[in-house]
Amino acid sequence: MSEPRQTHFGARTVDLAAKQGLVDDVFRSVARRYDLMNDLMSGGLHRAWKDALVTAVNPPKGDRPFAVIDAAGGTGDIAFRVCDINAEMLAVGRERALERGLDGAVSFIDGNAEALPFPDKSFDAYTIAFGIRNVPRIERALAEAYRVLKPGARFLCLEFSAVDVPGLDALYDLYSFNVIPALGRTVAGDAEAYRYLVESIRRFPKPQVFAGMISNAGFRRVSFRPLTGGIVALHSGWRL
Ligand SMILES: C[S@@+](CC[C@H](N)C(=O)[O-])C[C@H]1O[C@@H](n2cnc3c(N)ncnc32)[C@H](O)[C@@H]1O
Repeated sequence: MSEPRQTHFGARTVDLAAKQGLVDDVFRSVARRYDLMNDLMSGGLHRAWKDALVTAVNPPKGDRPFAVIDAAGGTGDIAFRVCDINAEMLAVGRERALERGLDGAVSFIDGNAEALPFPDKSFDAYTIAFGIRNVPRIERALAEAYRVLKPGARFLCLEFSAVDVPGLDALYDLYSFNVIPALGRTVAGDAEAYRYLVESIRRFPKPQVFAGMISNAGFRRVSFRPLTGGIVALHSGWRL
């Protein structure tokens, strides 16, 4: 099946080939304020969501090596092996790993989730947190996740989702379209970047549809779990 030539960049329709450059501009612009903005925008909740993801990875106890790739890893919050397309986000991540004495345990690799620079069947788990909706060709990223995972390994994706609590949806919209761009302007000096982030959340497929995409990539036992009234969902699938 041929790929569509156009896609969404937030609320705008853009050529598929142009999207990655626009996404890169957003994260280049906000990299230095990215961590602070996450705490402010989510009232710290992003930490609990990421904890849920890391808990689900559940590496075996003991010394057996367990290789995890965290795609679109940004500044390294999930931090096992971080692969991200944006050098500025990776630079912040490397500094944080150094500060925490983790620089030996985590490698930060410049790479595209659509064409991962790793051999087939090399990882025991693949994680991606708030990254996949930024990737222009989501199907390619899912196919790559499948390719690099070993048989028996797990795919885990944290992404914004569809709020399913009456009342919370209206409040969430109000907050997203008003407070977040204003915070972006004041704290990160870029309201547009944060308007893009909000719009891209709205454009992302509903969780059932995204689960179908994960299945189509070849994953089995596909499931998702809504967190915080559906603001976020944790998606899971296995390469069997
Ligand atoms: C919202 S941030 C998420 C960062 C981190 N995972 C977190 O949860 O804090 C999205 C990240 O996706 C990265 N990204 C966008 N397109 C990408 C691609 N094609 N391949 C890899 N990373 C990409 C961006 O550079 C950015 O660091």
